[in-house]
Amino acid sequence: MNILILGSGGRESAFAWKISQSFLCSKLFIAPGNAGTESFGKNIHLKPTDFEGMRLFILENKIKLVVVGPEEPLVKGIHDYFLQDEDLKHIPVIGPQCEGAQLEGSKDFSKQFMIRHGIPTASFKSFTKATLQDGLTYLESQKLPIVLKADGLAAGKGVLICETLTEAKVELGAMLVNAKFGEASNTVVIEEFLKGIELSVFVLTDGKSYKILPEAKDYKRIGEGDTGLNTGGMGAVSPVPFANAEFMRKVEERIIIPTVEGLKKDAIPYKGFIFIGIMKVNDDPYVIEYNVRMGDPETESVIPRIESDLVDLLLGVANENLAEKSLIISPKIAATIMLVAGGYPGKYLKGRAITGIDNVRHSLVFHAGTELDSDIVKSVGGRVLAVTSLKETLFDAVQTATADAGRIYYDGRYFRNDIGADLF
Ligand code: AMP
Ligand code: GLY
Repeated sequence: MNILILGSGGRESAFAWKISQSFLCSKLFIAPGNAGTESFGKNIHLKPTDFEGMRLFILENKIKLVVVGPEEPLVKGIHDYFLQDEDLKHIPVIGPQCEGAQLEGSKDFSKQFMIRHGIPTASFKSFTKATLQDGLTYLESQKLPIVLKADGLAAGKGVLICETLTEAKVELGAMLVNAKFGEASNTVVIEEFLKGIELSVFVLTDGKSYKILPEAKDYKRIGEGDTGLNTGGMGAVSPVPFANAEFMRKVEERIIIPTVEGLKKDAIPYKGFIFIGIMKVNDDPYVIEYNVRMGDPETESVIPRIESDLVDLLLGVANENLAEKSLIISPKIAATIMLVAGGYPGKYLKGRAITGIDNVRHSLVFHAGTELDSDIVKSVGGRVLAVTSLKETLFDAVQTATADAGRIYYDGRYFRNDIGADLF
């Protein structure tokens, strides 16, 4: 069958790499893709939110499965658009409809969902411009630090951890009154700060049953030793040593089952990935957030550990027989190092020629912010390439991926040398 992947990052490169290996895949298209996805399929000049353009392309090219990488098209209703169209409604889309996508699209919605279904999460209260005074009073009754979250999508920037009451009050005003994050901060969730260690748990569901994919740990800060500004993610490892069987049993019983059952009880259809950001506080899991897609760069560590045919699993989602499919996971350990542009996550260098990718021998290279410019691979995004190594030990995986990352060069290239080091 012909398959279309939407997106252009490292996550979509990992999907394309895996899907292109499936005997179920005839032609693979990626919209818009990057310089690397060209080697697994054909890039298409279409934005993932151009639903009309996509409709024409899909019908002309007999696409039979659409895999949505990023959240934006889901929150904007791509799946609903398909279901409402006579010609598209039989073409499965991997990713929830608008309502399910609210788990990521609205922090308030996701918190209400967790409360309704008894899912452990930080205590919270939501406020709008009209209830600003109540919000300021509420802040006075809370412990510090305190977390302020813009309700809507804010390109990963809408979460503020405030150390002082004054800072929290100023920021609450800036978000609600001065629209610091635009419409996304029309509503603000004020949330208890959870102290612990984070991990990313991934679930694939057809709305009836679920499979737990390999978990991962993401390294968000730009600097070594987890310092400096937040980024989209500088690296990942999978599995996560502290997520042992006992802890994962708690995650499944307290979080995954109530989430899938909760969606059913609320009559929210959901076919796709659920990314659960979890904080391990002492030995107990709490949900920090839901995302309605896979994580990036976690996917670049998670996908190489999946030995089963991903297309077969996705068809299980589409046909609601996921329970009959087998998910085989490699016991090997994956480490991913992200190479980023000079200046990132601030204003960063673009259009730099990349050399040395061919020198990488022992790792997989997943392109992210790259583009082909008359046969030269150039950087176009902040996160440029992801290098993943799969080994018997975490130490070997990290060493190999780091050494291979060093074989790639472009002006301003930067990567962290300490991915996974906290777990050795
Ligand atoms: P989010 O955009 O929800 O992923 O939040 C960004 C980051 O802020 C998370 O990955 C956490 O590191 C941190 N964070 C969010 N909520 C909390 C919380 N309640 N307590 C502590 N840290 C948090
Ligand atoms: N790596 C975190 C995310 O994809 O949101």
